[in-house]
Amino acid sequence: MKKRILVVSSANMDFVMNVSRIPNAGETVIESGSYKLIPGGKGANSALAVQRLGGDCVFCAKIGRDANGEALRKLFAAEGLNLSALRSTDSAPTGLAAVTVEADGSNRISVFEGANRYLNADDAEEALLCYPDALFMHFEIPDEAILTAAHFAAKKDIPIVIDAGPAKPDFPFDKLPPLEIFSPNEAETEAYTGINPNSAENALRAAVMLQRIVKSHYYVIKLGGRGALVYDGKYYNIAPSYEVKVVDTTAAGDSFTAALTLEYLRSGNIMRSCRYANAVGALVVGREGASTSIPNEKQLSDFIAMRQIEL
Ligand code: RIB
Repeated sequence: MKKRILVVSSANMDFVMNVSRIPNAGETVIESGSYKLIPGGKGANSALAVQRLGGDCVFCAKIGRDANGEALRKLFAAEGLNLSALRSTDSAPTGLAAVTVEADGSNRISVFEGANRYLNADDAEEALLCYPDALFMHFEIPDEAILTAAHFAAKKDIPIVIDAGPAKPDFPFDKLPPLEIFSPNEAETEAYTGINPNSAENALRAAVMLQRIVKSHYYVIKLGGRGALVYDGKYYNIAPSYEVKVVDTTAAGDSFTAALTLEYLRSGNIMRSCRYANAVGALVVGREGASTSIPNEKQLSDFIAMRQIEL
């Protein structure tokens, strides 16, 4: 039986610009690269990762009644996501992210929340009626929706996973019920703890500090090319990353945490799940865009076999 994951989160259209460098203030740079509109949003990226990797994803998000919203809905339906909790609104346009990707694959993202801002407590509460095996969220939607979904899930003993992006240090963490997994990336870890996890020692110090901020069974710090650190409040371990040519890091974290959650539900083994998620992340950074870079099960199993990865 497929594991059902309810993703309560965001959906955006990404306006992606491939640039040779970021202009200085007041400067204009003529670029010879390309620009594209690519479906994205942290929630949508994670939802698509769950579905493509063999999960059953129910996606709760809010989009505008506009061309971008239509394009997103069409993609989600074609991918087989359960859209019973995907809502449309007239109050705002579909979320838009301006994504600048430099030659080394690193990105800078500005998000115009649009319709995401209108995802409310009622939407989250109704979505929980699908009886998922896990609830998965990011901080790209209103606090009210996150807290409501979390409390409903906790009441029903549904494990809660929060991918801590984008960094929101003023989130009322004390109001959250205990989580199963809390997973920030390097920049988010620094924003929450003040510690740059630039070495194994610093990553562990940051994980210990995270424990004081949010209660969770596992803290999984995504360290990019250095893998992922897992801390359970007592012991820590690092799951190594797999070397690939980095084209674009967009959606790598969203896909990593989604894959981690899915494999954790299937295997119950957090380290195995991190290795699995690292393999997914490696494939994502090797391709362009958000939704366009997320692998399916077959592409992932080919990569795992080719690299002789032991999960
Ligand atoms: O994490 C990548 C995502 O962040 C992009 O797809 C963009 O839409 C923003 O939400």
